[in-house]
Amino acid sequence: MALLLTRADVQSALSMTDAIEAVEEAFRQQQVGNAQLPLRTPIRIPQHHGLVLFMPAYIGGEMDALGMKVVTVYPDNPAQHSLPIILATVLLNDPCTGKLVAMMDGAYLTALRTGAASGVATKHLARANAKVVGMFGAGIQARTQLMAMCAVRPITEVRVYERAPDVARSFCDDMAASLKITARQVMEPREAVAGCDIVIAATTSKTPIFDGAWLEPGTHINGIGSHSLDARELDSTTIKRSKVVVDLRSAALAEAGDLVTPINAGEISADHIYADLGAIVTGKPGRTDDGEITLFKSVGLAIQDVSAAIKVYQLARAKGIGQEVNL
Ligand SMILES: NC(=O)c1ccc[n+]([C@@H]2O[C@H](COP(=O)([O-])OP(=O)(O)OC[C@H]3O[C@@H](n4cnc5c(N)ncnc54)[C@H](O)[C@@H]3O)[C@@H](O)[C@H]2O)c1
Repeated sequence: MALLLTRADVQSALSMTDAIEAVEEAFRQQQVGNAQLPLRTPIRIPQHHGLVLFMPAYIGGEMDALGMKVVTVYPDNPAQHSLPIILATVLLNDPCTGKLVAMMDGAYLTALRTGAASGVATKHLARANAKVVGMFGAGIQARTQLMAMCAVRPITEVRVYERAPDVARSFCDDMAASLKITARQVMEPREAVAGCDIVIAATTSKTPIFDGAWLEPGTHINGIGSHSLDARELDSTTIKRSKVVVDLRSAALAEAGDLVTPINAGEISADHIYADLGAIVTGKPGRTDDGEITLFKSVGLAIQDVSAAIKVYQLARAKGIGQEVNL
């Protein structure tokens, strides 16, 4: 029997704290050579304007988790089919037999694991007393980014710069109610940088969203948005001023315009990347003084999906969540 888990099942099974723990363990296993993580495989379907990404991973150690996420990106979906642009499904297999053990919705899981990776990075890189978050973008990812910040730091306030005012308003209302923090919309990008302890870039912008000269010493930045070479949310000043940690160097150099654009322009070299997150969680020093500006740049890895999915599966089984199906 395999367990079928809907979005609501995933949401009720896995807390952000559990997700952060699972994702940190995945980065640890990956760093010690105990994970297999092929590059994501894309298939383009031009006649339907579709892109499908296959993201498999195996994580060894006590986690012993095998799975794959399938993500589809269909920009015409909302207008033509009343469906979201991005859909995702995660399959989990038994590493001993190969048998399918679970199939779950991957959209919320993606947001949760992306937040969790920023949570792990923030735990190791932000100042311990970080309280104020500046948030760029107030979409799906921004919500779980903020949840993760509140899980690892004593956050009291978020200042939100979002180009769609109604999106910003509902984000602020929901986050203030669920996280018990002050949430307010700001009208100038500078207000989401100056005076903020943590700045999060979680937009779909293809061009830089703030001026790195505005960053104050001691700020930690999570840059999660751009993950193609033709897009960047962060300007070269931000990159040059920051100690840069990435989810995985090879993936960042293949996909992160935020880093590759200044490298190609000769403004930094690839050596400007200080470490992979796996190195930080296994003991390489993260922040070394309160004045440093630190940056975690992520593009998203299948080990995050598989580690979060195995945790969902274990918790769902323990709590009796989901539906058993015989394929
Ligand atoms: N790093 C990862 O692992 C990872 C995982 C999932 C998604 N992403 C990326 O994160 C980004 C956000 O994803 P999402 O699902 O939240 O998208 P979304 O469409 O739900 O939200 C993006 C928001 O950004 C806002 N925005 C765009 N340009 C802006 C600007 N210049 N200033 C302020 N706000 C702006 C939009 O109005 C929108 O509300 C995307 O680029 C997505 O590809 C990264």
